[in-house]
Amino acid sequence: MSQEISLAHFRAWLLAYAEHIEAIEAQLTDLDAAIGDADHGANMRRGMERLRARLADPGLQCDDIGALLRTVAMTLVSTVGGAAGPLYGAFFLRAAQECQGGSVVTLVQLARMFRAGLQGIQQRGKAQLNDKTLVDALEPAVVALEKAAAEGAPLAVALEAARVAAEAGMRHTIGLQANRGRASYLGPRAIGHQDPGATSLYGLIRTAAETLGAAQPASLASRR
Ligand SMILES: Nc1ncnc2c1ncn2[C@@H]1O[C@H](COP(=O)(O)OP(=O)(O)OP(=O)(O)O)[C@@H](O)[C@H]1O
Ligand SMILES: [Mg+2]
Repeated sequence: MSQEISLAHFRAWLLAYAEHIEAIEAQLTDLDAAIGDADHGANMRRGMERLRARLADPGLQCDDIGALLRTVAMTLVSTVGGAAGPLYGAFFLRAAQECQGGSVVTLVQLARMFRAGLQGIQQRGKAQLNDKTLVDALEPAVVALEKAAAEGAPLAVALEAARVAAEAGMRHTIGLQANRGRASYLGPRAIGHQDPGATSLYGLIRTAAETLGAAQPASLASRR
């Protein structure tokens, strides 16, 4: 049975992500202090504060999922700063382009949106798997989502598989040397530290599993 993710689910996801980032801000700061310049927590929190304000604005015109995600992209690009702002912006912008005008999204479409988002990040930042960046958390999640979608798995199962894959990818960054961003200047000294961007990105997938994964089968949703 095909399940549909509504605009309300996407809003719930973004609010849950904002809350999550605020809860782990200190952890992101500490991780970035170890292999970067200690600003990832503050950068992301600033973006999430602004995002919450945008989502709460009654004048916000977002009638479809694409428009909502475009607003997210613009908000993050203009407020997060650093390397992460344009990368998260690219993710949401490309994901938005995959669902122009859509008021609901299926798992197959969601997998396409996440793949497009990953491509946007890679076009912008040129990072590959194992470069010790947020790509290391996102790419395994996208692959898991695509596999689950191809198998016709229920949405919640697919998103939980993506969450597990993203978590493993995030932890895998601990053993890696960095090839992108400030951490690459450290050479082997970056080994032993989890990548801050992979940590914030894991939160994006985790909160997606918690919120988008709760979407009801289309037939149930329409009966409400
Ligand atoms: N080229 C890249 N591609 C993908 N992710 C990247 C790239 N460069 C940095 N990152 C991610 O951004 C995170 C750091 O984001 P932050 O908000 O601290 O910005 P920053 O201090 O300007 O980054 P950096 O010092 O790494 O360039 C890293 O942990 C990494 O995951
Ligand atoms: Mg930094």
